[in-house]
Amino acid sequence: MCAARGDAPGGGRYGEAVFRPEQAGEGERIDFGALAYDDITMARLRALGAGPGWRCLDVGAGTGTVSRRLLDEAGVESVLAVDRDVRFLAERPGLDVLQADITAPDSLHGGFQLVHARFVLMHLPEPESLIAALAELVAPGGVLVLSDAVDLTSDRTPVTPYTTVMRAMWEGLRATIGTDVSRVPSYPHLLRGTGLEFVAAEIHVPPLVPGSPISRFWADTWERSRAAMLATGLVDDAAVDAGVRYLDSDECAALSGGMLTAWGWKAEEESPS
Ligand SMILES: C[S@@+](CC[C@H](N)C(=O)[O-])C[C@H]1O[C@@H](n2cnc3c(N)ncnc32)[C@H](O)[C@@H]1O
Repeated sequence: MCAARGDAPGGGRYGEAVFRPEQAGEGERIDFGALAYDDITMARLRALGAGPGWRCLDVGAGTGTVSRRLLDEAGVESVLAVDRDVRFLAERPGLDVLQADITAPDSLHGGFQLVHARFVLMHLPEPESLIAALAELVAPGGVLVLSDAVDLTSDRTPVTPYTTVMRAMWEGLRATIGTDVSRVPSYPHLLRGTGLEFVAAEIHVPPLVPGSPISRFWADTWERSRAAMLATGLVDDAAVDAGVRYLDSDECAALSGGMLTAWGWKAEEESPS
């Protein structure tokens, strides 16, 4: 893959400046996101054909929920789960685990029928070159599937305790580790630019219901990025606390960030005539 150090103004990286895996509760935070999105992800991967005989790569696999469900529910042949920190991943028959930084050169080699990366590229620099490198890992006839967050608010969205904290979160993560969700809607275009074909995309927005996995995911994420949010000057501790209370109250009437999933297929190799 490609060499790239974080391009955040502060030079920080995922897992170091924020979302440190060794901090208690980080696995649970990832699992709340997985609970909110895994069924949607699995439905899409299965609709794309993930099943028996497929060799799969799960990039930035986190706690491995998708990797395991690919094996258990879709019945794929194998999954290679890769992460910069693999403490939440355990090997088992069919599931191989590799600790690697996907921004390092030559960290991965192909070819897989499915290459999947969810909520990873948005945190990393140079998505164009990362997407091109991931496309290289797809076997002929295989598919690259990318999911990342989209911010569906605009300057006309009503101001609520939720939107105030979310705005500070995106800005704080951008400044601290370079997270940038503004480029996520470009993924279909970027996939096509790598030469992948039959590109398409969809968005899922889980309802923000008090106590739901997505509400708990945002509350946990705010807690873990509180310092980055305060540093923006957009919120103080009281505003973050108000956002957490709002999420858990009947007052909550807001649109969550969504998950955009985009995919593209690598052409089959032409058989010699
Ligand atoms: C938000 S979690 C998503 C986990 C999982 N894909 C999911 O959707 O449940 C992001 C994951 O990407 C991993 N990650 C971040 N930067 C990485 C890098 N440069 N190389 C490999 N993995 C990375 C993190 O360690 C973390 O497990």
